[in-house]
Amino acid sequence: MEKLTSAELMQMEDKYGAHNYHPLPVVLSKGYGVYVWDVEGKRYFDFLSAYSAVNQGHCHPKIINALTEQARNLTLTSRAFYNDSLGVYEKFITSYFGFDKVLPMNTGAEAVETAIKLCRKWAYEKKGIHENDAKIIVCEGNFHGRTTTIISFSNDPDANKNFGPYTPGFVRIPYNDLGALETALKDKNIAGFLVEPIQGEAGVYVPEDGYLKGAADLCKKYNALFIADEVQTGIARTGKLLAVHHENVQPDILILGKALSGGVYPVSAVLANDEIMMVIKPGQHGSTFGGNPIAAKVAIAALEVIEEEGLIENAERLGKIFRKEMQRIIDSSDLVLKVRGKGLLNAIIVNDTPDSSTAWDLCVQLKENGLLAKPTHGNIIRFAPPLVMSEEQLMECVSIIEKTINSFKK
Ligand SMILES: Cc1ncc(COP(=O)(O)O)c(C=O)c1O
Repeated sequence: MEKLTSAELMQMEDKYGAHNYHPLPVVLSKGYGVYVWDVEGKRYFDFLSAYSAVNQGHCHPKIINALTEQARNLTLTSRAFYNDSLGVYEKFITSYFGFDKVLPMNTGAEAVETAIKLCRKWAYEKKGIHENDAKIIVCEGNFHGRTTTIISFSNDPDANKNFGPYTPGFVRIPYNDLGALETALKDKNIAGFLVEPIQGEAGVYVPEDGYLKGAADLCKKYNALFIADEVQTGIARTGKLLAVHHENVQPDILILGKALSGGVYPVSAVLANDEIMMVIKPGQHGSTFGGNPIAAKVAIAALEVIEEEGLIENAERLGKIFRKEMQRIIDSSDLVLKVRGKGLLNAIIVNDTPDSSTAWDLCVQLKENGLLAKPTHGNIIRFAPPLVMSEEQLMECVSIIEKTINSFKK
C-alpha cells in the first residue's frame, strides 16, 4: 500500500472527521519513551504526553507486554461474569491508593459521572438529603470532561454554549477561595465538593498552599464529600503520587484516568471507602468495558512502572529544574510573563491577549525545532513531558524552548 504523506493524512482528517479539535499540523506514527516521530520520520520531544496520559512514556515495554499478553487470552467478558484479572487489579489498586473499594470505568469523563452519581446517592441514603435536592459544589474554570452533565457546570462557553438544557444540581464558586467554599457548604443540601487539585485545562492554575487541606477539612465539618478529580494531576504527574498528597489529604472520592493505563488503553477508576461505595447496588451503575481484563492488567503494569522507575521523585526533581530554567528565560524575555506548575505539570503565560495567535505560533515554531506542545486558553502553553525524561533530555528541551522564544523577539 502506498504510504500517505502528512499533508494527505491531515486533509483526510479535515474532510472525513468532525472538526471538534484543532490539532497542531504534525502527523505522528510512532512513539517511544519521551519521543514521537512523524510519518516523514522526524523525531520530536513530546511535551504534552496526551494531556498527561503518557506519564510512563510512549509504548512502555512492560505495559505493552501486559496489554498484548492479556489480549491473546481474554479481552472482554462484561461484568455479567467474573474474570480472573479484575479481582487481582481491584486488590492491587485499592491498596496502592488506600481505599476500601474501586469502581472501574474507561474514560475520565465516565469516572467523573460515576463520582457524581455516587455522591448524590450517598447524600440521599446516608446524609439524609431530600430526594432530588442534592447539590454539588464545583469551581469556576473547572474542566472535568465533555458529557452533557459535566459541561452543564462548566463556565467555558466553548464547552457548553448551545448544548443546553443543562443538568441542575451544581453550585459554582471561585477556585482557590475557602471563604466562598464555606459559605456554599452552609446550604444543607450540599452533597459534595468536586475539585481539580490543580486546574490543568484552565491553564495549570495552582491553588495556594493549604487550599486543599482547608477544603477537605471544611467538607468534613459540613458533612459533604471531598471529591478530587486527579484525572490529569494524578499518578506522579505533579511530583507526588496524587496532587492532594502535597497537603496530606485523602479525598472521600478519588477520580483517576489517563495515566492509569500509561496512555495505552482507556482505563479510569473511582475509589472510595465502603460507607460511600456500598450505596451503589447491582444494576445501578456500570459499563460494558469497565473492569475488562485488558484494562486490569494494563493498569497494574502502569502503576508498577511508576514505583519501579521512581517517576514521582523524577517529576518532582525535574519540575524544579524546569521552572528554574523557564524563570531564567523569562527574566531576559518580554515574550513570556510567567511560569507556574508543580512537578512536571507546568505552563508558561505568553505576553499577549488570549485571542492572539502568539502562543499558537510559538507552538508551531517549537514543533519545527523538535518539541511538541499545545496552547490552552489562547495565551497559555502547557508543558507536560513524559515523567521518564532524563535531566539531559530536559535540558535539551529547555534549549529548544529558549531558542524558539528568542527567535520570536526579533
Ligand atoms: C481533570 C480532568 N477530568 C476529566 C477529564 C476527562 O477525561 P477524558 O477525556 O478521558 O474523558 C480530563 C481531561 O482532560 C481532565 O483533565
